[in-house]
Amino acid sequence: MNPPARFITFEGIDGAGKSTHIDAVASQLRSAGAQVLCTREPGGTELAEKLRELILHAPMDALTEALLVFAARRDHLQQVIAPALARGETVLCDRFTDATFAYQGGGRGFDVAVLAQLEQWVHGELQPDLTIWFDLPAETAAARREAARTPDRFEREDAGFFERVRSGYQARAQAAPHRIVRIDAALPRDAVWRQIAGALESRQW
Ligand code: TYD
Repeated sequence: MNPPARFITFEGIDGAGKSTHIDAVASQLRSAGAQVLCTREPGGTELAEKLRELILHAPMDALTEALLVFAARRDHLQQVIAPALARGETVLCDRFTDATFAYQGGGRGFDVAVLAQLEQWVHGELQPDLTIWFDLPAETAAARREAARTPDRFEREDAGFFERVRSGYQARAQAAPHRIVRIDAALPRDAVWRQIAGALESRQW
């Protein structure tokens, strides 16, 4: 029998090192027999990828940014995430609504009550079954980002912005301790992977 459909999201400040571990989680779940779909936000559909370009590169105010990330999310949920879960697949999503609370709420200081309202409109009661939060100090993440490609609008922000984003994630994790698992992402890659594998094992996934 196939494992049940699960919705797993991956979060953290830019430079936390999510990407390689998402691939590893996909391989592990596939070898356990799951059908796995990997996707990302903002993005994941033709329309949402167009919105991503704007969100990452066009200047705009915080409300516009929040509306666009939720617009992209709505399309992504309807076109990709909900149908995959309905087919019994496991969906791995690189960022989801916790990122909006962290970046637009924490980073930009936008009203989290408005974000909570948008969250309710866009995905009601649907929440990830598990969120892996890669947590590390803003300055460690900044050092890792320096080696990476050309920065987008978010990656160009200063250390204070990323400290606020980190606090935004912390607040979400405190409010949903069973869903959000904090991983110490400042450790070497193997140690990070062991924590993720432990989180999956403890759920017998
Ligand atoms: P990211 O996922 O880090 O992609 P890449 O690895 O290609 O840089 O980039 C997405 C950016 O979008 C990231 O800086 C966070 C931002 N973002 C928000 O501000 N709000 C959101 O709701 C989401 C999903 C992402």
